[in-house]
Amino acid sequence: MIDTTHKLQQAASRLGIKLEQMPRHLAMIMDGNGRWAKAKGLARAEGHCEGAKAAENIALYCARLGMQSLTLYSFSVENWKRPQDEVEGLMALYEEYLMSMRPMLMRENVRLVHMGRRQGLPEGVISELDRTMDLTRDNTGMIFAFALNYGGRTEIVDAVRHLAQKCLAGELEVDEIDEACFGRHLYSAVMPDPDLLIRTANEMRVSNFMLWQISYSEFYVTDKYWPDFGEEDLDKALVAYAQRDRRYGALSQT
Ligand code: FPP
Repeated sequence: MIDTTHKLQQAASRLGIKLEQMPRHLAMIMDGNGRWAKAKGLARAEGHCEGAKAAENIALYCARLGMQSLTLYSFSVENWKRPQDEVEGLMALYEEYLMSMRPMLMRENVRLVHMGRRQGLPEGVISELDRTMDLTRDNTGMIFAFALNYGGRTEIVDAVRHLAQKCLAGELEVDEIDEACFGRHLYSAVMPDPDLLIRTANEMRVSNFMLWQISYSEFYVTDKYWPDFGEEDLDKALVAYAQRDRRYGALSQT
Protein backbone atom coordinates (compact mmCIF):
# COMPACT_ATOMS: atom_id res chain seq x y z
CA MET A 1 0.00 0.00 0.00
CA ILE A 2 1.33 3.44 -0.99
CA ASP A 3 1.61 5.55 2.18
CA THR A 4 -0.50 8.70 2.46
CA THR A 5 2.41 11.16 2.50
CA HIS A 6 3.68 9.73 -0.77
CA LYS A 7 0.20 9.97 -2.31
CA LEU A 8 -0.20 13.54 -1.05
CA GLN A 9 3.21 14.44 -2.49
CA GLN A 10 2.16 13.06 -5.87
CA ALA A 11 -1.11 15.03 -5.75
CA ALA A 12 0.72 18.22 -4.78
CA SER A 13 3.18 17.80 -7.67
CA ARG A 14 0.32 17.24 -10.14
CA LEU A 15 -1.34 20.44 -8.90
CA GLY A 16 1.95 22.36 -9.06
CA ILE A 17 2.08 23.07 -5.33
CA LYS A 18 4.27 22.04 -2.39
CA LEU A 19 3.43 19.17 -0.05
CA GLU A 20 3.17 21.56 2.92
CA GLN A 21 0.61 23.62 0.97
CA MET A 22 -1.83 20.70 0.94
CA PRO A 23 -4.47 20.67 3.72
CA ARG A 24 -4.20 17.88 6.27
CA HIS A 25 -7.86 18.14 7.17
CA LEU A 26 -10.51 19.18 4.67
CA ALA A 27 -14.01 19.98 5.93
CA MET A 28 -16.99 20.49 3.65
CA ILE A 29 -20.43 22.03 3.98
CA MET A 30 -22.40 20.30 1.23
CA ASP A 31 -25.07 22.76 0.21
CA GLY A 32 -27.41 23.17 -2.75
CA ASN A 33 -29.00 19.75 -3.27
CA GLY A 34 -32.47 21.33 -3.21
CA ARG A 35 -31.55 24.15 -5.62
CA TRP A 36 -29.84 21.67 -7.94
CA ALA A 37 -33.07 19.64 -8.09
CA LYS A 38 -35.26 22.70 -8.50
CA ALA A 39 -33.16 23.99 -11.41
CA LYS A 40 -33.73 20.66 -13.14
CA GLY A 41 -37.44 20.44 -12.30
CA LEU A 42 -36.82 17.44 -10.02
CA ALA A 43 -37.95 16.62 -6.48
CA ARG A 44 -35.63 17.67 -3.61
CA ALA A 45 -35.11 13.97 -2.83
CA GLU A 46 -33.44 13.56 -6.23
CA GLY A 47 -31.04 16.33 -5.28
CA HIS A 48 -30.12 14.50 -2.08
CA CYS A 49 -29.59 11.23 -4.00
CA GLU A 50 -27.20 12.95 -6.40
CA GLY A 51 -25.63 14.70 -3.41
CA ALA A 52 -24.93 11.35 -1.79
CA LYS A 53 -23.19 10.12 -4.97
CA ALA A 54 -21.10 13.30 -5.04
CA ALA A 55 -20.18 12.76 -1.37
CA GLU A 56 -19.01 9.19 -1.97
CA ASN A 57 -17.03 10.30 -5.01
CA ILE A 58 -15.32 13.13 -3.09
CA ALA A 59 -14.52 10.79 -0.18
CA LEU A 60 -12.92 8.33 -2.61
CA TYR A 61 -11.00 11.11 -4.36
CA CYS A 62 -9.72 12.50 -1.04
CA ALA A 63 -8.57 9.04 0.06
CA ARG A 64 -6.69 8.62 -3.22
CA LEU A 65 -5.14 12.09 -2.86
CA GLY A 66 -3.72 11.01 0.49
CA MET A 67 -5.76 13.48 2.56
CA GLN A 68 -5.26 12.82 6.27
CA SER A 69 -8.82 13.74 7.34
CA LEU A 70 -12.08 14.62 5.63
CA THR A 71 -15.22 15.84 7.39
CA LEU A 72 -18.55 16.04 5.56
CA TYR A 73 -21.42 17.97 7.13
CA SER A 74 -24.26 15.60 6.30
CA PHE A 75 -27.06 16.49 8.73
CA SER A 76 -27.19 19.18 11.38
CA VAL A 77 -29.12 19.24 14.65
CA GLU A 78 -31.14 22.03 13.00
CA ASN A 79 -32.05 19.88 9.96
CA TRP A 80 -34.73 18.05 12.01
CA LYS A 81 -36.86 21.16 11.38
CA ARG A 82 -37.30 20.10 7.73
CA PRO A 83 -40.52 18.38 6.59
CA GLN A 84 -40.85 14.85 7.96
CA ASP A 85 -40.76 13.16 4.55
CA GLU A 86 -37.50 14.92 3.64
CA VAL A 87 -35.91 13.95 6.98
CA GLU A 88 -37.03 10.33 6.56
CA GLY A 89 -35.69 10.25 3.01
CA LEU A 90 -32.33 11.59 4.17
CA MET A 91 -32.10 9.07 7.02
CA ALA A 92 -32.84 6.23 4.58
CA LEU A 93 -30.07 7.58 2.33
CA TYR A 94 -27.53 7.72 5.18
CA GLU A 95 -28.40 4.17 6.19
CA GLU A 96 -27.98 2.94 2.61
CA TYR A 97 -24.70 4.79 2.04
CA LEU A 98 -23.16 3.80 5.36
CA MET A 99 -23.70 0.22 4.21
CA SER A 100 -22.82 0.54 0.52
CA MET A 101 -19.62 2.54 1.10
CA ARG A 102 -18.00 -0.24 3.18
CA PRO A 103 -16.17 -2.01 0.33
CA MET A 104 -14.73 1.33 -0.86
CA LEU A 105 -13.70 2.31 2.68
CA MET A 106 -11.94 -1.04 3.17
CA ARG A 107 -10.27 -1.00 -0.23
CA GLU A 108 -8.98 2.55 0.30
CA ASN A 109 -7.93 1.93 3.95
CA VAL A 110 -10.32 4.64 5.24
CA ARG A 111 -11.53 4.81 8.85
CA LEU A 112 -15.05 6.15 9.34
CA VAL A 113 -15.84 8.11 12.50
CA HIS A 114 -19.07 9.76 13.59
CA MET A 115 -19.29 13.39 14.64
CA GLY A 116 -22.51 14.31 16.38
CA ARG A 117 -25.07 13.06 18.86
CA ARG A 118 -26.18 9.44 18.53
CA GLN A 119 -29.28 10.21 20.55
CA GLY A 120 -32.10 11.13 18.18
CA LEU A 121 -30.81 9.16 15.18
CA PRO A 122 -32.97 6.25 13.98
CA GLU A 123 -31.94 2.73 15.09
CA GLY A 124 -31.14 1.69 11.52
CA VAL A 125 -28.73 4.59 11.02
CA ILE A 126 -27.03 3.96 14.39
CA SER A 127 -26.55 0.29 13.63
CA GLU A 128 -25.06 0.96 10.16
CA LEU A 129 -22.84 3.68 11.63
CA ASP A 130 -21.60 1.26 14.30
CA ARG A 131 -21.01 -1.57 11.85
CA THR A 132 -19.05 0.67 9.50
CA MET A 133 -17.04 2.23 12.34
CA ASP A 134 -16.26 -1.22 13.80
CA LEU A 135 -15.26 -2.64 10.42
CA THR A 136 -12.97 0.27 9.55
CA ARG A 137 -11.61 0.87 13.08
CA ASP A 138 -8.08 -0.40 12.32
CA ASN A 139 -7.73 1.24 8.91
CA THR A 140 -4.69 3.49 8.90
CA GLY A 141 -5.36 5.76 5.91
CA MET A 142 -7.72 8.72 5.76
CA ILE A 143 -10.10 9.48 8.63
CA PHE A 144 -13.54 10.15 7.18
CA ALA A 145 -15.69 12.00 9.71
CA PHE A 146 -19.37 11.82 8.98
CA ALA A 147 -21.09 14.75 10.71
CA LEU A 148 -24.58 13.46 11.32
CA ASN A 149 -26.96 14.99 13.86
CA TYR A 150 -24.12 17.45 14.37
CA GLY A 151 -24.14 20.94 15.85
CA GLY A 152 -21.09 23.01 16.74
CA ARG A 153 -22.70 24.44 19.86
CA THR A 154 -24.06 21.02 20.87
CA GLU A 155 -20.54 19.61 20.52
CA ILE A 156 -19.16 22.31 22.83
CA VAL A 157 -21.94 21.68 25.38
CA ASP A 158 -21.23 17.90 25.25
CA ALA A 159 -17.51 18.55 25.82
CA VAL A 160 -18.27 20.86 28.79
CA ARG A 161 -20.55 18.23 30.34
CA HIS A 162 -17.90 15.55 29.92
CA LEU A 163 -15.23 17.77 31.50
CA ALA A 164 -17.53 18.73 34.39
CA GLN A 165 -18.28 15.05 35.06
CA LYS A 166 -14.56 14.26 35.15
CA CYS A 167 -13.94 17.13 37.60
CA LEU A 168 -16.79 16.00 39.85
CA ALA A 169 -15.44 12.44 39.80
CA GLY A 170 -12.01 13.73 40.83
CA GLU A 171 -10.43 12.54 37.56
CA LEU A 172 -9.50 16.04 36.38
CA GLU A 173 -8.45 19.32 38.04
CA VAL A 174 -10.16 22.50 36.81
CA ASP A 175 -6.72 24.05 36.22
CA GLU A 176 -5.82 21.20 33.85
CA ILE A 177 -8.49 22.41 31.39
CA ASP A 178 -6.75 24.29 28.62
CA GLU A 179 -7.34 24.51 24.85
CA ALA A 180 -5.60 21.21 24.12
CA CYS A 181 -7.52 19.42 26.88
CA PHE A 182 -10.80 20.91 25.64
CA GLY A 183 -10.02 19.81 22.06
CA ARG A 184 -9.51 16.23 23.27
CA HIS A 185 -13.11 16.22 24.53
CA LEU A 186 -14.65 17.25 21.21
CA TYR A 187 -16.08 14.71 18.71
CA SER A 188 -13.16 15.60 16.43
CA ALA A 189 -10.44 14.60 18.93
CA VAL A 190 -8.84 12.13 16.51
CA MET A 191 -8.20 14.79 13.85
CA PRO A 192 -6.24 18.03 13.56
CA ASP A 193 -8.32 21.20 13.09
CA PRO A 194 -9.53 21.69 9.50
CA ASP A 195 -7.07 23.63 7.36
CA LEU A 196 -9.60 24.25 4.61
CA LEU A 197 -13.37 24.61 4.87
CA ILE A 198 -15.26 24.44 1.56
CA ARG A 199 -18.90 25.43 1.20
CA THR A 200 -20.86 24.92 -2.00
CA ALA A 201 -23.88 26.80 -3.41
CA ASN A 202 -22.44 30.25 -2.75
CA GLU A 203 -23.58 30.66 0.86
CA MET A 204 -21.33 32.72 3.13
CA ARG A 205 -22.31 31.11 6.42
CA VAL A 206 -20.71 28.72 8.87
CA SER A 207 -24.09 27.24 9.89
CA ASN A 208 -23.03 25.93 13.31
CA PHE A 209 -20.23 23.78 11.84
CA MET A 210 -17.10 22.97 13.85
CA LEU A 211 -17.22 26.31 15.66
CA TRP A 212 -14.24 25.58 17.91
CA GLN A 213 -12.08 23.87 15.28
CA ILE A 214 -12.37 26.37 12.39
CA SER A 215 -10.88 29.33 14.28
CA TYR A 216 -8.01 29.54 11.76
CA SER A 217 -9.37 27.48 8.86
CA GLU A 218 -9.25 28.97 5.39
CA PHE A 219 -12.72 29.41 3.90
CA TYR A 220 -13.46 28.64 0.23
CA VAL A 221 -16.90 29.16 -1.29
CA THR A 222 -17.97 28.01 -4.73
CA ASP A 223 -21.23 28.69 -6.55
CA LYS A 224 -21.43 25.05 -7.71
CA TYR A 225 -24.36 23.14 -6.18
CA TRP A 226 -23.15 20.15 -4.18
CA PRO A 227 -24.31 17.42 -6.64
CA ASP A 228 -22.20 19.11 -9.36
CA PHE A 229 -19.10 19.43 -7.18
CA GLY A 230 -16.46 17.05 -8.50
CA GLU A 231 -12.77 16.30 -8.60
CA GLU A 232 -11.85 19.27 -10.79
CA ASP A 233 -13.67 21.62 -8.42
CA LEU A 234 -11.76 20.18 -5.48
CA ASP A 235 -8.46 20.57 -7.36
CA LYS A 236 -9.34 24.23 -7.97
CA ALA A 237 -10.05 24.75 -4.27
CA LEU A 238 -6.74 23.07 -3.32
CA VAL A 239 -4.79 25.34 -5.67
CA ALA A 240 -6.59 28.40 -4.24
CA TYR A 241 -5.83 27.20 -0.69
CA ALA A 242 -2.14 26.83 -1.57
CA GLN A 243 -2.00 30.57 -2.41
CA ARG A 244 -3.28 31.62 1.03
CA ASP A 245 -0.90 33.25 3.48
CA ARG A 246 -1.82 31.65 6.81
CA ARG A 247 -0.58 33.96 9.54
CA TYR A 248 -2.49 32.78 12.63
CA GLY A 249 -2.47 36.34 13.95
CA ALA A 250 1.29 36.77 13.45
CA LEU A 251 3.09 38.61 10.65
CA SER A 252 3.69 37.21 7.18
CA GLN A 253 6.83 35.02 6.78
CA THR A 254 7.41 36.30 3.24
C1 FPP B 1 -27.89 20.71 1.75
O1 FPP B 1 -28.71 20.79 0.63
C2 FPP B 1 -27.53 19.36 2.07
C3 FPP B 1 -27.98 18.66 3.17
C4 FPP B 1 -29.06 18.98 4.08
C5 FPP B 1 -27.28 17.46 3.51
C6 FPP B 1 -27.56 16.38 2.55
C7 FPP B 1 -26.31 15.77 2.14
C8 FPP B 1 -26.29 14.72 1.34
C9 FPP B 1 -27.48 14.06 0.80
C10 FPP B 1 -25.04 14.06 1.05
C11 FPP B 1 -24.94 13.01 2.12
C12 FPP B 1 -23.87 12.11 1.93
C13 FPP B 1 -23.98 10.78 1.94
C14 FPP B 1 -22.75 9.96 1.71
C15 FPP B 1 -25.23 10.04 2.14
P1 FPP B 1 -30.04 21.63 0.84
O2 FPP B 1 -31.15 20.66 0.93
O3 FPP B 1 -29.89 22.53 2.02
O4 FPP B 1 -30.06 22.46 -0.50
P2 FPP B 1 -30.77 23.87 -0.72
O5 FPP B 1 -30.12 24.85 0.22
O6 FPP B 1 -30.46 24.17 -2.16
O7 FPP B 1 -32.23 23.68 -0.46
